[in-house]
Amino acid sequence: MRALVHDGYTSAAGLAVAEVPTPRVGADRVLVRVLTASVNPVDWHLYRGDPWIMRLRRPGAARQGLQGVGEDFAGVVAEVGAGVTGVAVGERVFGTIPATAQRTGSIAEYVDVDPEWFAVLPPGVDPSAAAASSLAGLTAMQALRDAGGPEPGGRVLVWGAAGGVGHLAVQIARLLGASRVDAVCSARSIDMVRGLGADDVFDYTVGETPRGPYDVVIDTVCTARASTLRRILAPEGVVVTIGAAGGGRILGPGGPIVRRAVGSALARITARTVLTRVDSSDLARLGSWLQTGALRVVLERVFPLAQAPAAYEVLEEGRVRGKLVIDVSGAPAA
Ligand SMILES: NC(=O)c1ccc[n+]([C@@H]2O[C@H](COP(=O)([O-])OP(=O)(O)OC[C@H]3O[C@@H](n4cnc5c(N)ncnc54)[C@H](OP(=O)(O)O)[C@@H]3O)[C@@H](O)[C@H]2O)c1
Repeated sequence: MRALVHDGYTSAAGLAVAEVPTPRVGADRVLVRVLTASVNPVDWHLYRGDPWIMRLRRPGAARQGLQGVGEDFAGVVAEVGAGVTGVAVGERVFGTIPATAQRTGSIAEYVDVDPEWFAVLPPGVDPSAAAASSLAGLTAMQALRDAGGPEPGGRVLVWGAAGGVGHLAVQIARLLGASRVDAVCSARSIDMVRGLGADDVFDYTVGETPRGPYDVVIDTVCTARASTLRRILAPEGVVVTIGAAGGGRILGPGGPIVRRAVGSALARITARTVLTRVDSSDLARLGSWLQTGALRVVLERVFPLAQAPAAYEVLEEGRVRGKLVIDVSGAPAA
């Protein structure tokens, strides 16, 4: 089969589409013929081995020969392991592979997955939107529901609202009952974010800052100072930091996140982080929102498999609006 691979730590320019063996299906696994896949920042952290701490996630990856790339996928079940029940050959599914799992990558003609890593793709849902919603949607949902816990009627701010996680968080906050959803992004994305349901949108590039008060701040970029958060959070408010723009060679986004933890403790702010769990029932919930149109995925661009390295060159710049998708099958979307 064809798959996007890298040999040792490399930049996007060092990725290649190569012929590799089709995965063999273990008793507890399912083989999926991939229609579409989508890209996430964790992918480039892994193939670059940057920041250095990411090398601990897959020790020895630089010396283990060709490595697959990608987590998110949507496709058709091609083979079911002997020990797996409840899924049939021919069913359409979508999901995401945990970054830490032993695995091939999802940007491949076939991927072998654990049944907990996918849900059924509801009829009528575009596989591109489903693949693109998987990791980003789980992250937004779990940050809001589990780490932020907005009460119905709560006031939410999404800081870094234009990217994969942020643009879904704006919508999921509303779906989980928020009465007010404000957002921070740059000028070029204000209309897009407002169109997804945000109330007030603030342009960070000209120094606009939200006024608050907010019960939950969902933050994908970790650029706000603790003093700013303290000013805009309600007394019982919580900031949930999902990721960070920038960071050094050793810890990468971990650096700003650790600094925030210290700054928040000093400023007496409740600060949490989130590590996304791949959960089939949460994926199913995303699928049902996609089916009803309650959740919309903005697709900035769809790349054919042969151009997957170019998708990562775009992603690494950190300015994607919504999501980038890889069309693996070459078939038109449903
Ligand atoms: N904790 C977890 O388990 C987990 C899971 C998934 C993702 N993450 C992390 O979460 C972060 C976001 O992921 P993603 O998939 O949403 O990334 P993404 O799609 O690459 O985010 C790109 C967006 O970030 C915005 N942005 C960049 N700098 C900004 C700034 N200073 N202020 C406000 N917005 C800014 C850009 O908008 P503008 O053009 O408007 O600047 C762009 O639209 C990443 O660090 C990722 O690694 C963590």
